[in-house]
Amino acid sequence: MSDTAALASIEEEGRRSIAAAATSAELRDVEAAVLGRASPIAAQRRSLGQAAPDTRREAGQRIGAVVTALTEALAERRDAIARTERTERLAAERLDLTEVHDARRRGHLHIVTRTQAELEDTFVGMGFAVAEGPEVESDWYNFEALNMPRDHPARGMWDTFYLEPPADGEAGEPGEAGEPLVLRTHTSPVQVRLLERTPPPVYAVMPGRCYRRDTPDARHLSTFHQIEGLAVDHGITFGDLAGTIETFTAAFFGPNIHARLRPAYFPFTEPSAEFEITCPICEGNGCRTCSGTGWIELGGCGMVDPAVLAAVGVDSEEWTGFAFGFGIDRCAQVRHSIADLRVLMENDARFLAQV
Ligand code: DAH
Repeated sequence: MSDTAALASIEEEGRRSIAAAATSAELRDVEAAVLGRASPIAAQRRSLGQAAPDTRREAGQRIGAVVTALTEALAERRDAIARTERTERLAAERLDLTEVHDARRRGHLHIVTRTQAELEDTFVGMGFAVAEGPEVESDWYNFEALNMPRDHPARGMWDTFYLEPPADGEAGEPGEAGEPLVLRTHTSPVQVRLLERTPPPVYAVMPGRCYRRDTPDARHLSTFHQIEGLAVDHGITFGDLAGTIETFTAAFFGPNIHARLRPAYFPFTEPSAEFEITCPICEGNGCRTCSGTGWIELGGCGMVDPAVLAAVGVDSEEWTGFAFGFGIDRCAQVRHSIADLRVLMENDARFLAQV
């Protein structure tokens, strides 16, 4: 039965199935069908027993040659499939690192974070250090040490969020037994904390998040950011304050933007002033943003009240100082002509992608 023609067709059939296998799983099935126990070539081998002894040896050699040929063909196909599968896997797993260079997809810091960093840089360039304080503050730091005893009417200048004091608060910390806790309404309490731990001379700015029980509108947020400034040294005068504010204004907003001070009241400074800057949008000519005045109010400032220095044990006969504080969000608003401050908090991707 194992004539040459039958063997040739078994080999040819086998080679065809091997060539048709597209994946390594398919090839495993083909291997079983071509060389396995139920394969035609195995049947040929079994039939050898019935062959005449004088032809058995030669027939066996011919069958062996077909098995060898098919085994080699399988090995070759296995290699080829492995190469293709590897190439396909690499292509599928490939990371397109060029995507990173697509500017439309690249993330960036929030405009308020960037504005804060630029403000810090400007003041660091003028010789100020940067300090921070907690957002949950005790009544003493937020108000009392800033010359506002309980029931002082000036506390009404800030609509305050009060917190439940923890029962187990440690003495001297915010939350000291029985002491009211607040979300700080301004960064001014950091002045007090700084003077407590650093004896003068002190030159520092203190940026951070503040909270007020305000209904948000185009120019107010209930969560917002301020930057506080403090300079305490021998012989600091109101002239130093005015010069510092003017220098900062030109450095941050540009040489055409100037600052002016107008009398105001704050409990922690005496005298106190509000500071205004040339409207950067119309450069002083008058526009909608500055209500036609050419000036934009940015913050408050003044000479540190001796009562504040006394609260932290600094001798106001020896040391004098100035302080200022203004809104970081407001700076970003003015600089980037943002009509409504609320977009800073809404995380609308269409806004975030623009600034
Ligand atoms: N803390 C004030 C506020 O939030 C701003 C301010 C005014 C800060 C005068 C100061 C200052 O340091 O001297 O309205």
